Amino acid sequence: MSRGGSHRARRAGDAVAHPSDPRGTGAAQTVPGARRPSVLDGVGGDPGDLVVEARDLSLRFGGVTSLDGVSLRQRRGEILAVIGPNGAGKTSLFNCLTGAYRPQQGSVIFWPQPGRPAELVGRRPHSITRLGVARTFQNIRLFPALSALENVQIGTEVRQKYGPLSVVLGLPHARRAEREGVHRAVELLDLVGLRHRTHELASSLPYGEQRRLEIARALGTEPRLLLLDEPAAGTNPAEKRDLAALITRIADTGVSVLLIEHDMGLVMSLATSVAVLNFGRMIAYGPPAEVQRDPAVIEAYLGASADAATSAAGPVPTSSASAGPTSAGPTSAGPTSAGPLLDDAAFDGDAQGGPGPGSGPVGRKELG
Ligand SMILES: Nc1ncnc2c1ncn2[C@@H]1O[C@H](COP(=O)(O)OP(=O)(O)O)[C@@H](O)[C@H]1O
Ligand SMILES: [Mg+2]
Repeated sequence: MSRGGSHRARRAGDAVAHPSDPRGTGAAQTVPGARRPSVLDGVGGDPGDLVVEARDLSLRFGGVTSLDGVSLRQRRGEILAVIGPNGAGKTSLFNCLTGAYRPQQGSVIFWPQPGRPAELVGRRPHSITRLGVARTFQNIRLFPALSALENVQIGTEVRQKYGPLSVVLGLPHARRAEREGVHRAVELLDLVGLRHRTHELASSLPYGEQRRLEIARALGTEPRLLLLDEPAAGTNPAEKRDLAALITRIADTGVSVLLIEHDMGLVMSLATSVAVLNFGRMIAYGPPAEVQRDPAVIEAYLGASADAATSAAGPVPTSSASAGPTSAGPTSAGPTSAGPLLDDAAFDGDAQGGPGPGSGPVGRKELG
């Protein structure tokens, strides 16, 4: 398996010179300011539409390079999927965007509102959360001994102006704010389809529901950018369909969704754009159908030469799992009629993942 070279990056960049824009998030325009040739060259988008732009991020741990000059650009309301083999650097990228890791090089500009950019590198996680970036974790992090409602309230507290002491003292403003927080949390439980679980312990919920509860908690912080790290991991086909519909609903409210996902059916049905990482480098970036056919991407996943993989497109196994969620997907953008070259079978999946960089004890508080 080779590392994606710059020639690949440029070729991938060429492929997205006119990215599809099914959500109508903005007309393609040239974005100035690229510091060096990258996969972003030629990617459209009015700077006013951008919600986040990572520039030339590099992250190393001793001899391990987790991210190597990664640049990324996402527009408002867009669903951008980040895919790549295990260890490619996907979670590391999320950790850099949310302040869990500080990259040795590069910057991340986030626009909570158009025209108001903020540098995220160097900020602490709670500060980034307050700015409007929320995430879920590859390995679920909930407070198992708290109810579903209480878990979501932890998210909404990020936006409350009054601290717990004011609530304990019974100050009227604080009491009203608390009531509003509860109301908001119940609304979010409703949004993710967990209203009926309001008072049940998080630990008692089935796995797929715990994943949706995490999303509700993240939404409680009122993000403009929502990072989902393998939200479909370990879920069944019906849960995947619900999840796809939920992610679409979230994006339709104007929240940009950055999605790490191994299920290619889900990726192809949901994503406006797809970014592919391999060995810490961005090897392709563009509309799903184009990325799916990119020889560098096929090589990264299949470990075969691009030509061989392309000519072997027929025998590449196509799992029924990828057909299910895709055909039921809420958007019309699915695999092209020519059929996907890549599918779930090409992915290891690290759903059960060992202790990754974003992992930690269940119940660890990462907010505020
Ligand atoms: N805290 C860390 N310490 C050492 N190495 C790390 C750490 N976090 C990530 N890495 C390494 O960075 C690489 C990318 O990991 P990760 O971002 O978790 O990949 P992915 O999410 O794509 O599977 C891996 O080689 C991983 O071992
Ligand atoms: Mg990961």
